[in-house]
Parts: sequence; structure tokens; C-alpha cells
Amino acid sequence: DKAGHRHFMAKEMAEQPAVLKAAMDAYAAPKADGIDLPEGIAFAKADRLIMVACGTAFYACQVAKYWFERYAGLAVELDIASEFRYRDPVLGPSNLALFVSQSGETADTLAALRHARPHVAQVLSVVNVPTSSIARESDVALPIHAGPEIGVASTKAFTAQLQVLAMLALKAGLERGFLSAEAFAARVAELRMLPGFVAQALDREEEIRRMSEALAQARDVLFLGRGVMYPLALEGALKLKEISYIHAEAYAAGELKHGPIALIDTDLPVIVFAPYDALFDKTVSNMQEVMARQGKVLLISDAQGLAAAGDVPFWLQMPTVPDFIAPIVYAVPAQLIAYHTALHRGTDVDQPRNLAKSVTVE
Ligand code: M6R
Repeated sequence: DKAGHRHFMAKEMAEQPAVLKAAMDAYAAPKADGIDLPEGIAFAKADRLIMVACGTAFYACQVAKYWFERYAGLAVELDIASEFRYRDPVLGPSNLALFVSQSGETADTLAALRHARPHVAQVLSVVNVPTSSIARESDVALPIHAGPEIGVASTKAFTAQLQVLAMLALKAGLERGFLSAEAFAARVAELRMLPGFVAQALDREEEIRRMSEALAQARDVLFLGRGVMYPLALEGALKLKEISYIHAEAYAAGELKHGPIALIDTDLPVIVFAPYDALFDKTVSNMQEVMARQGKVLLISDAQGLAAAGDVPFWLQMPTVPDFIAPIVYAVPAQLIAYHTALHRGTDVDQPRNLAKSVTVE
């Protein structure tokens, strides 16, 4: 049931404020200042966290790496499941392994879990389906409470995965004595603001719909971001490829000069994710290199960022949000751009060609 929406993807994007609230309530009751996770996650003794997933779930891990480093002082290793399972990763009894999967049935992710299991202290998972194979084979499975996701393009599962990973990172920081009780409580309070900010981001839909008309004419699109916005750029490019079939690539903005700048011409739309944070100036200087070559830039930023950036051909204003939760809010324009570009092109948004919702074979 699409609940009055044209597509499951539209319904699932619209559900995000409610989903984020449900997941928050499940782990951090509205009045409590703590985060209630299952007992016994060995964060305090861990010397390394290994995160493994595929596709969008992998990008959620990539964002979470910044969080575990910044808020928990925990070393993180990341890999996509299809690579991890055939490597000889150096694992040990003080490592934690964390697998992220919406379906909980992705063949490569499950195989990666089985590959790691005998060598690590604990196997954790972040899943949407609590009865799934990945959940059952984990020591601790953390559900994201997103409800069924039908659209092949993952949307609400991504933002809910990020929220649960954010909570895990904060909890790890507290238990490792890396984050003070005050800093922990401040970050939890920021997480509580997510439903409101995500709703504000969803309100930009009409503007995004109009902008996507031009994007639908493009043959290729480049996405740029730095820090936590780099995985967001990757997610934006993946969404666009999946449902509009436009070739899209994402680069860390600092890599531009190392090759992709050769692609810039008047036809290539370049979408830049850059909230006004500590990396803003760096990203904007890369954006200016694109503009100096007549590249068609769309800057996604907040009021301060847009004011500081000066004249840009296209821009989209996001709410001003705390750095910690920004990647979850900026996921919304990444999704809406792909959705509306695909609608303009008339592709099948919920059932894109060649793709399955759950990849249960290698
Ligand atoms: O069910 P999983 O989260 O394990 O699925 C992983 C990927 O197959 C999935 O995220 C895929 O990349 C999506 N179609 C992205 O929109």
C-alpha cells in the first residue's frame, strides 16, 4: 500500500521523520538522557571496529567511521562485503565486527559475517529485519525500526541505519571514557532534533523537482563532498544511477585535482554537498575550480554556507543543523534528486531494471 503516494520510494522518503522518531524512542526513551542498548557490547575493551556491508548500507558505515573516530576514539576498518569475505583480514580477540544490512539476507554480507565470526570478540549487526539470517547469527542485533522497505532504492533504511550507528558511536564514546557525560547528552539532544530537520529537508521537494528537470538531460553527473559528506556524495551518485540510469560518480572533493577535474565542461552537472562546517572552505575552493571551468554547479548547503559561497549557478538551502547529524539530513536531497530526475526520465522508480531488493546470491 503506497498510502496515497505515487511510488513506494516516495512513501518511504516521506516516512523518515516518523521512522527516525520511532528508532530514537526505541533506544532512548523521550525523557531519559541515556541510550539503552542491549547489555554486553564490549566497546570498552575493543581496540578496533570492523564494519562491513554492501551498497547503501556500506555508505552508512562509511559515515559512521567518522563518528566512531571522532566521538569514541575507536579505530575503524571498513570494507565492502564482497571484498572482505575473500581477503585475509587480520582479526583478533579484541576486535568487534559490525555488519549493516537492511534485509539482513545479503549473501556477501552474511558470508563476511561468517568469515569474521571465529576471530573476533563479538559480532554485532544493524538490521531492519530482526528475524533475518544476519540478525540471527550475530551476538547482538540492533533493529533500525524502519518498517518494511519495498522500493529497491534504499531511503528510510539508510537514514535509520545512520541514526542507530550514531547512537552506537555515542554509547561507545561514553563507555570508553572518550566522551564526557555532558558531550554525550548534548549529542543525544541533537539526535532528538532529527525528525524536525528531516521534515524541513523534505519540504524542499518542489524546488528539487524543478531543478531535476535539467539534471534529467545530463549524460553524466558528478557528486562531491568532504568528510561525512563524501559518503553522502557516494550515496547520491548510487541513488541516481540506480533509478534514473544516468551515469554518476562521486569523489571526495580533495581528489578533484587528481583526475576527475579533466571531466569538467559546460555539460557536466556537479552536485556539491557542503554544510557550513569546518571543511566548508576547502570544499568551496574545489567547487570554485569547477566553476572556473564553466562546470554547472549545484551547491547544497545552509544559509551561512550559501551566503559565504557567493554566486553559484544553482543552489539548494538546507536547514542549519548541528555537524553531528548533518549527514542524516543531507541524505534527503540526495534521495529527492534521484527520485525526481528519474520521474522526469520516466524510468521505473520502484523496480529499476536489473536490480533486486535483496541480493541473496553473490
Ligand atoms: O539489504 P542490504 O542493506 O544488505 O542491501 C545492501 C544493498 O544491496 C542495497 O543497499 C542497495 O545498494 C540498494 N539498492 C541501494 O539503494
